[in-house]
Amino acid sequence: MSWSLPAWVRNLDQSSLEAWLRQEEAPRLEELWAAADLVRRERVGDEVHRRGLVEISNHCVRRCAYCGIRAANSQVARYRMEPEEILACARQARAFGYGTVVLQSGEDQAHTTQWVAELVRRIAGETGLAITLSLGERPARDYEVWREAGADRYLLRVETTDPVLFARIHPGYPGREPRLAILRHLRGLGYEVGSGVMIGIPGQSYASLSRDLLLFRELDLDMIGVGPYIPHPDTPLGVDGHPDFPDAPDGGQVPNTEGMTYKTVALTRLVRPDANIPSTTALATLNTEQGRELGLRRGANIVMPNLTPPAYRVLYEIYPGKACVSETAAQCALCLDGRIQAIGRVPGTGPGWRPGHEPDRR
Ligand code: 5AD
Ligand code: FES
Repeated sequence: MSWSLPAWVRNLDQSSLEAWLRQEEAPRLEELWAAADLVRRERVGDEVHRRGLVEISNHCVRRCAYCGIRAANSQVARYRMEPEEILACARQARAFGYGTVVLQSGEDQAHTTQWVAELVRRIAGETGLAITLSLGERPARDYEVWREAGADRYLLRVETTDPVLFARIHPGYPGREPRLAILRHLRGLGYEVGSGVMIGIPGQSYASLSRDLLLFRELDLDMIGVGPYIPHPDTPLGVDGHPDFPDAPDGGQVPNTEGMTYKTVALTRLVRPDANIPSTTALATLNTEQGRELGLRRGANIVMPNLTPPAYRVLYEIYPGKACVSETAAQCALCLDGRIQAIGRVPGTGPGWRPGHEPDRR
């Protein structure tokens, strides 16, 4: 295999990252896509791992300014899946050949430490799948108990590493530092740790997004999810021209576009070469025809097919127009395998750990 990575790839610093994010010339961008694709192939191979996503509850105590299931949104009908229903989804994941099930929810206080632990134990015992949790910020002890019960990975996006912007879009939160501390704690417990940011949040500057990329490298994240910010009309941030959420000044505002998402995905691959990086549903929402494929061809190696039963899926509306909302789990499975094969890649087998970092399974 030829390995001809240009020298600039090894020397990415804040100013070159920012220059790449601002790059608009097609031939230069082709160079970026090629470098990201080459590094992806060398470091994580042609397998595309499928992480089956179950959105287990849309109850949430938080008021994130961008999120459609924020506590203050009274338009949403709330649901909470029963353990048996969640188990049925996990069995489906196994039947489709996925290696991982991801349990995601709002910050739902009805999910007690023991309720989640028991669920994790049952899924691990019955399916042997890798288990990823994405249940938000919890007391440190919960993460320990869940790891003990058999959870392998934890996803907690920082959303932006800019402390001022973080505070603005997360009213009433303790701030960015506690979230970074949780990511370090999770690492210490032996989880594979994932984080990431949204692209094009009002107030997000190019300088800020390039610092996010540097932080991915510094934290040595195992998994990194980056997707476009999509305004939700029933949220404060989704109100056009809201005075509390100004754009970054002086032409510095990052647009929440498809093109900016590809650049961020590609640069993420270059700063964290062996990370698992999804081609996100938010990206597929901006381009239903080709978004997933282009993400996979420009640095990503993961997809997250939705397993949530259709009746609940429509209620997990963190942003509007979400791709796959009217599909069934089986339709998503078929659709994604077809898309993976159409671009000459192969559906992954096994849990799809970060290469060389296979953790102890309990
Ligand atoms: N647009 C795009 N992504 C969003 N998320 C939440 N709200 C939105 C939105 N309006 C993302 C956040 C969160 C993940 C589950 O979904 O990054 O961590
Ligand atoms: Fe609940 Fe954001 S408001 S996850």
